[in-house]
Amino acid sequence: MKIVVAMTGASGAIYTQRLLDNLDSKAHEIHFISTKYAREVGQLELPKGELRIASSVIQYDENGSMFVPFVSGSSKFDAMVVIPASMGTIGRVANGVSDSTVARAADVFLKERRKLIFVPRESPYNLVHLRNMATLTEAGATIIPASPSFYNKPKTVTEVVDTIVARVLDHLGIEHKLVKRWQSAE
Ligand SMILES: Cc1cc2nc3c(=O)[nH]c(=O)nc-3n(C[C@H](O)[C@H](O)[C@H](O)COP(=O)(O)O)c2cc1C
Repeated sequence: MKIVVAMTGASGAIYTQRLLDNLDSKAHEIHFISTKYAREVGQLELPKGELRIASSVIQYDENGSMFVPFVSGSSKFDAMVVIPASMGTIGRVANGVSDSTVARAADVFLKERRKLIFVPRESPYNLVHLRNMATLTEAGATIIPASPSFYNKPKTVTEVVDTIVARVLDHLGIEHKLVKRWQSAE
């Protein structure tokens, strides 16, 4: 698969890290882009202030260029995950404001009817946030909120985070053994 992973400036850089940790960038073509605010939040939240990214992941330096493949419908891609997704980016995409690489890419994935997943992080949601997420859902995107589950009794922050990353991988159609499935032996 060809997958775009986009990190935006919501809290939860560890979600991006765990998704990248669990995407095999040799088996799949992984393109990674982050916004300016994502990098600032990442500096605060990540152990060494930045993500650990495999050299086989294709990275883009800035969120302003339209000279990247996935901002055009003519480039074939399978899926895009915005993780974590800020309310700012969700608002831009829901309203067709394609003024950055990430926003334009998401716009393209919607128009091409490709898989587009948002992992929003905000609390509480205001009515604008909720309406924007409803709009994105109506337009074909999938909202997987950063709302972890606890029924498998996670013991570490990573295990908590992985309850969400597992759902993202499920929706991408990628096999994993990150979490025990409900009422199954493994
Ligand atoms: C430490 C920190 C935490 C933030 N957490 C959130 C958050 O959880 N959700 C959110 O929507 N915005 C959050 N923001 C605000 C966004 O970073 C801000 O709205 C920014 O404009 C988003 O831009 P982007 O969508 O281009 O990344 C946070 C900002 C900072 C500095």
